[in-house]
Amino acid sequence: MQYLVPRSGEENAAQKKGIIMQKILVVDDSELNRELLRELLEDEYETEMAEDGEQALQKLQECGPKIHAILLDLIMPKLDGLSVLARVRENEQTKDIPVLIISSEYGVEIENRCFELGISDFIHRPFERSIVKNRVKNAVELFVCRNQLEQKIKEQEATLNRQYQIIQEQAEKLREAKPFNALMTEYRSAIMEVETRLNVLNAEFSQEYNRNPFESIKSRLKSPESISEKLERKGYPFTVESIREHLTDVAGIRVICSFPDDIYRLARLFSQQGDIHLVREKDYIKNPKPNGYRSLHLILSVPIFLSREVKYMNVEVQFRTIAMDFWASLEHKLKYKKDVDDAGEIVQQLKFCADSIEQLDYQMQEIRNKIDRSRG
Ligand code: GTP
Ligand code: MG
Repeated sequence: MQYLVPRSGEENAAQKKGIIMQKILVVDDSELNRELLRELLEDEYETEMAEDGEQALQKLQECGPKIHAILLDLIMPKLDGLSVLARVRENEQTKDIPVLIISSEYGVEIENRCFELGISDFIHRPFERSIVKNRVKNAVELFVCRNQLEQKIKEQEATLNRQYQIIQEQAEKLREAKPFNALMTEYRSAIMEVETRLNVLNAEFSQEYNRNPFESIKSRLKSPESISEKLERKGYPFTVESIREHLTDVAGIRVICSFPDDIYRLARLFSQQGDIHLVREKDYIKNPKPNGYRSLHLILSVPIFLSREVKYMNVEVQFRTIAMDFWASLEHKLKYKKDVDDAGEIVQQLKFCADSIEQLDYQMQEIRNKIDRSRG
């Protein structure tokens, strides 16, 4: 519902035109106070009056969600102001309504208790017209803003949920589709092809130089959900042709090396193989990402030999050292954790660790070189 915040002078006209005004509940056992506040606020707000705590709770029950602020006396018969305040906060319908305490001198302890119960402000007696008006206006505006924000977040959540639903449905359709499964088999074959060639290089190196250029290989096929999400995000159609044309990381391989120079040697040897084409190279080792991420990424077009034809498939190969992989895995885990406190500090610490890891990589490489030289 859209509430109007009337400016002075327009209010009565607004009321006459039937526009909904924001409602303020005044709770005070002194008739004089109630009347003063009514007179002060009625130009701009609809006012409700309660003479004691019990009446206040009754009014809140009747029209809780419509109330935009409560002006509350503390010392009253039947139910005092602090008890009313506690009950307002307990109730899901009323817990966020701003409360302004109509104050005499209550003392620090009581005032602190009021703040603990989340009051917005105090209104001091004798009432100073403009101060009361401004304090109420601020509290109401903040409340309306907060409600609108919450509403927006709810709408965005609903949109995200709908999108997630669509992605799930598309992924489900993909899983069942024969051409999609055939394509996935081709990407799987491309992974096997790359793994075999890497293993061949490793075997040759360990035979000739008595050491392995890489420590381990990890591979993964992108999930239908992830494929669907990426196509949707990039605005591409949801077809097998589109996957082939626009996604280069359906087949992914990560090669973990011991030293930075192994990475470049291996990458060069690999992309120089006659039937492999280098589509794109991103060198995040020479040009690390601002967060400290380091790796060498190659998009390679790799042949697979089927019974009737040779097909070229895109494969994303990421080369990293053990230390870079350690950093990237941790950073990835942390990034996907929700509500990480001190995000700014964590970002700085991660960057610091990334830089230390880089130094470590080159120091270890230097040590290996020294050992190699001393062996002659
Ligand atoms: P994506 O859409 O995520 O594939 O990114 P992109 O197409 O811009 O490619 P890029 O080469 O930048 O990143 C490809 C992959 O590298 C990502 O999917 C991650 O696996 C990895 N990567 C890139 N940046 C980071 C990073 O900052 N941290 C970590 N942990 N991994 C990263
Ligand atoms: Mg990717």
